[in-house]
Amino acid sequence: MRIFSGIQPTGKKHLGNYIGAIRQYVDGQERAAASGDESLFCVVDLHAVTVAYDPAELRERLYDTTAVLLAAGLDPSKCVLFRQSDVPAHTELSWLLSSVVPNGRLSRMHQFRDKSGAQRELVSSGLLFYPVLMAADVLAYRADEVPVGEDQREHLELMRDAARDINRRFAPELGPGEGGKPGLLMVPEQRTPEVGARVMDLQDPTRKMSTTGGSVEGTVYVLDEGKALEKKFKRAVTDSETEIRYDRAEKPGVSNLLEILAASKRISIDEAVASMADARGYGDLKMAALTAVDEELAPLRERYAELRPDVAALEAALAQGAARATELAAGTLADVREAMGVGVPRAFSGARPGA
Ligand code: TYM
Repeated sequence: MRIFSGIQPTGKKHLGNYIGAIRQYVDGQERAAASGDESLFCVVDLHAVTVAYDPAELRERLYDTTAVLLAAGLDPSKCVLFRQSDVPAHTELSWLLSSVVPNGRLSRMHQFRDKSGAQRELVSSGLLFYPVLMAADVLAYRADEVPVGEDQREHLELMRDAARDINRRFAPELGPGEGGKPGLLMVPEQRTPEVGARVMDLQDPTRKMSTTGGSVEGTVYVLDEGKALEKKFKRAVTDSETEIRYDRAEKPGVSNLLEILAASKRISIDEAVASMADARGYGDLKMAALTAVDEELAPLRERYAELRPDVAALEAALAQGAARATELAAGTLADVREAMGVGVPRAFSGARPGA
């Protein structure tokens, strides 16, 4: 079981990133190791240059994100943690994949439509190409599973189709790469958590919590603490009833708080609802969610404070990861080049035929 996921080094990481993705990475690191395979986690700096950004700030945010991942429990001796731009195989494979990805499909992607609409000056071609690079990130390692939040579904579908199309067109004799069969590329599965796959903004619970689109007061950052954290929960938007029940459509605010409570305490939604049986009102639910989040994130905040100042140590961890990632991607790239007839002719590497 090989696991791959990526995270952007933009903005501050929030509770949606943590519950939807980062916590799953730590779990994935253990599951991959238990299966005798590897897990890879990539800070995707090349994706971050597709919208307006400041180069110096990008470097800082990259260290922030790396430190958050380490503080959450990723361990470079157990997983491969690296910076995307350190491994050129990603950009090379994205170009090769572009030969099977229809342009029309890229321009219809939700993220492209949303983000291109929000750009005031330039809509870069990188923004359009974003999903192809993301497909390359995963396919370069022939990963079986991709832990992500619900919002990445469309990207995962495109990635799966790109793998299928490359396999079918250029190497059908190697197999389909899915259904337990080998292939030139593997068709990866999306893994989203049962609870917390789509954490919503506390101020507008019909919108997902997000670095760019949400409200500052409704976005809980993983490093928020004390009064700032408390204020966000106390002011969370609910509804005009008093009943605590889980109903995403009718009671989005209350349901989001229940989901945050359940995810943070690692219990089911039903158990979270039951734990609120004696609540006097929504105030108690808000306090319960706040306490659960605070307890879950306190150790992360402490470790982050220790790790973040030591940039040399962060760079050393990333360099170690990049070296291993480069080795792992080399076999896939050689095979794809061979299948597509580019470069010097050679035999298939058989590095990891998959499945
Ligand atoms: P990014 O950096 O926006 O988000 C990182 C992860 O956080 C999840 N997430 C959420 N989960 C639950 N509720 C939310 N409100 C919420 N907001 C964000 C995202 O689903 C994601 O898993 N395109 C990716 C980065 C990427 C990638 C990859 C991911 C690049 N290459 C290869 C997987 C595999 C992104 O922008 O994530």
